[in-house]
Amino acid sequence: MQTALRYALPIVFGLALFTLGSYLVVSTTSRSWFEDDVRRRAELAIRGAGDALSQSWARGDRVSVRRVLDDITRDERILAAAACAPDGSVFAQTADFPRSLPCSRFVARSLGNGQARAWNRAERVDGASVYLSALPVLSPGSVPLGAVGLIHDMSYAEERDALTRRAALGLFGVLAVSAIVLSTASARGSLRRFRNDLRNLVRGERSRGEFQPLLQDVRDLAAQLSPVNRAEETGRAWNPERLREVLHEHLQGEKVVIVANREPYIHDRDEHGALRVLHPASGLVTALEPVMRACSGVWVAHGSGPADRETSDKQGRIRVPPKEESYTLRRVWLTAEEEQGYYYGFSNEGLWPLCHMAHARPTFRDEDFAHYKRVNERFAEAVVSEVDRQDPIILVQDYHFALAPRLIRERLPRATILTFWHIPWPNPEQFGICPFREEVLQGLLGSSIVGFHVQAHCNNFVDSVDRYLEARIDRERIGIIHSGETTLVRPYPISIEWPNHWAQESPPAAACRKEVFAELGLKADALLGVGVDRLDYTKGIEERLLAVEQLLARFPQFQGRFTFVQLAAPSRTAIERYQQLNLNVESLAKRINERFGSADYRPVILQRQHHEPPRVFRYLRAADLCYVSSLHDGMNLVAKEFVAARDDERGVLVLSQFTGAARELTEALVVNPYDLKQASRALAAALTMRPQEQTERMRALRSLVSEFNVYRWAGRMLADAARLRQRDRLSQRLGGLASVEGAA
Ligand code: G6P
Repeated sequence: MQTALRYALPIVFGLALFTLGSYLVVSTTSRSWFEDDVRRRAELAIRGAGDALSQSWARGDRVSVRRVLDDITRDERILAAAACAPDGSVFAQTADFPRSLPCSRFVARSLGNGQARAWNRAERVDGASVYLSALPVLSPGSVPLGAVGLIHDMSYAEERDALTRRAALGLFGVLAVSAIVLSTASARGSLRRFRNDLRNLVRGERSRGEFQPLLQDVRDLAAQLSPVNRAEETGRAWNPERLREVLHEHLQGEKVVIVANREPYIHDRDEHGALRVLHPASGLVTALEPVMRACSGVWVAHGSGPADRETSDKQGRIRVPPKEESYTLRRVWLTAEEEQGYYYGFSNEGLWPLCHMAHARPTFRDEDFAHYKRVNERFAEAVVSEVDRQDPIILVQDYHFALAPRLIRERLPRATILTFWHIPWPNPEQFGICPFREEVLQGLLGSSIVGFHVQAHCNNFVDSVDRYLEARIDRERIGIIHSGETTLVRPYPISIEWPNHWAQESPPAAACRKEVFAELGLKADALLGVGVDRLDYTKGIEERLLAVEQLLARFPQFQGRFTFVQLAAPSRTAIERYQQLNLNVESLAKRINERFGSADYRPVILQRQHHEPPRVFRYLRAADLCYVSSLHDGMNLVAKEFVAARDDERGVLVLSQFTGAARELTEALVVNPYDLKQASRALAAALTMRPQEQTERMRALRSLVSEFNVYRWAGRMLADAARLRQRDRLSQRLGGLASVEGAA
């Protein structure tokens, strides 16, 4: 307000001067117009009376002269008239001619100095503003008979003057108020622009041109000073301790709440009824579990295990990992219908095939989406019941919870919501076939940050928003501004824990090889290839087996010697497409075994059951090669686990080019899994690769995965969250200042 007044006062003062000047000019001009008018009226009146007046006067006929004077005063603006004799006496006068005006005055003015002339003057008589005229009257022989004195009414001139004054004052008022309003608005506008620019600076968003150089400097300086960035530059390895530091130093040790459908520990009973804990086959769990162990907090998940309820408290809570108990698992119970609609239906028959280019037709059903919505709401409510502040950090995981970010945001407007989409995001055309596309996008845009494994998926997401929602896209910062909120879109390539506790707990590689070879009945000089997956059509298991078949057909030297073992965890078996895949894989393995196998040789060994991580790691350590042949995969952590497993620096990774991992693991033999010729050649190359080359490649891969491990993944996301929170807090303070000023 003060700023506005500082601008407005000089303008108002100038306007006052201007208005006063204008009023004086208008008033003087109009007054002189009135006086001219009056003068002309007086002359007209006397001239109009003409001969009648002079003849009557010359005859000394006072009655006739009086009649003429009465006629003259019929003009509404002439109040009174008097015929004054040259000696200053009254010859005749109208009834209301004031006594205070002696005739001598009129005679003296019009007949003085031997001249006969008209005289006029504005005066105040008896408190009223009048105009006096004196006009000489001559006899027919041109002898002065006297003077006629007229009193004109000037009140109408005064009224007009008052009107002009009021108009001028009104005009002044309007102008002054407009000036104040305009300058206040402009001052507030500039202030708001300044504040927005400052806020944008703080948030790191684009700002107006004039701030750019300054803001860039400030930003650079802030980036240099940021402890999070300093830590990145020190080259210190990312590990649980460093992740904890980020959480404690930059997020004040705030507890992290993760929402993910799959729980990290499933409680079950074995065939003897004994309680057991299973580790699900899930890349998401592989990545996030070590993060939660490092950070503590709460993991909200679907309680899907047969013995989950009996091992949880009334609220569905249980401390995990067993014996270690470093964080809380909060289980959400779903009915069979909810699980069918939300998990099998919309998530896995809808979104999963929609996001993967693996030739499975997505199926969308209204009732599935209704369950999906309801379950997302239930998880959002569970999250709210687990937080202990208004601005918690919430990590929403994967395609099961596209709507949850918005639902959480509605309940906790100040939360920092980081959503990570663990699978690919399709291009806008493909995404467009989802009948609920707008709701899915709007749901995700409740997040502060949406993360994908690779930039290409970020781009697809931004393009989808651009295509299907009314939103502003900031392509420079890769952000989406929708309904006044900003969501950043960032690539965070996920990874695994390093050092990996499963690898560390495994027997030495040679011992694993011995054990696995014995288990599979392989000869000592046999060559072993391994595949580890959920039985999912996106993993390219059929193509993998076909490549093995081609290898044996095209490179017969491997017949009888090479065995490929597929550890396949049954997955989503209630869905027909998965059942069909199961049958296909089975018959394919059978066909290859019939074609190339013998009584004591099975080229393909299918192990379709759940495999606990120690067993998986033993196989990974035992093999000569691992083939990851996904047709489309966000990242694929089995590839990274194989690298982690090989502390003997041996073994070759054959990797599909359609995985996110292929962008990082360039020392693998990267193949197109559909190209069976190329893939079989790569398998042959892997099996014949010199030990030294294997070591060189594996060493490079291990160095990369060790550096770009899951602590770095989580650390970067949390560091971004910390920056966002700092900026939000600062901009809230600026907003607070603005409202205080506004109130003032
Ligand atoms: C993928 C998904 C995860 C999921 C995992 C296992 O990796 O991104 O969210 O947990 O598959 O699938 P499931 O349906 O068994 O959880």
